[in-house]
Amino acid sequence: MGNFLIAPSLLAADFARLGEEAEAVLKAGADVLHLDVMDNHYVPNLTVGPMACAALRKYGITAPIDVHLMTRPVDRLITDFAKAGATYITFHPEASEHVEHSLELIHKHGCKAGLSLNPESSLGLLEYVWDKIDLLLIMSVNPGFGGQQFIPSALDKLKKARAIINENGRDIRLSIDGGIKVDNIYDAALAGADMFVAGSAIFNQPNYAEVITTMRNKLKPLTE
Ligand code: DX5
Ligand code: ZN
Repeated sequence: MGNFLIAPSLLAADFARLGEEAEAVLKAGADVLHLDVMDNHYVPNLTVGPMACAALRKYGITAPIDVHLMTRPVDRLITDFAKAGATYITFHPEASEHVEHSLELIHKHGCKAGLSLNPESSLGLLEYVWDKIDLLLIMSVNPGFGGQQFIPSALDKLKKARAIINENGRDIRLSIDGGIKVDNIYDAALAGADMFVAGSAIFNQPNYAEVITTMRNKLKPLTE
């Protein structure tokens, strides 16, 4: 283990100052920016589209951008976000008519492909696509809103996913998203996560660096 990535979710940032907020968390030690895309259809909330991603790139952000599509359908947005500068594009398998095709589309555009599982969704959904994903995003809240409480069954799913990934041998990031805080990041890492999405835990504090440093200190015992 080791090589942990901290991915602040911009959902909790000040949208009027998105570029500055992105720059500030990166300066504070973040590795990846997580961009939550919600369509008022797959989830009840509505957030931002590819223009926001393109605007971050235009602003000068060069760090990886992890686009989390909570939309149905997904294919059109895959193409648009790839053109807008996304690094990872992750979608929910239930939201795509043809999961394999959508994964291929992401790779065709040169991006890394991710699948996201809702709290009730089983790892079995991935049985035939493990060789086609670069990231698995385990949801530890129901998608749609920031600031929710961590659902503990996600830890069990992380453990099972970690075992499969280790056996598989491919380089697949195991990300956890929802209710991640200084208090539970260690448990998520111990269960096998190596990428941590955190929105409110970071952006609701005045000092981003302090939160990110505390998170890294919590992970230290698990770092090689
Ligand atoms: C929820 C989003 C999350 C959310 C996490 O649908 O996918 O990325 O922003 O926010 P917190 O960390 O506040 O739970
Ligand atoms: Zn997310």
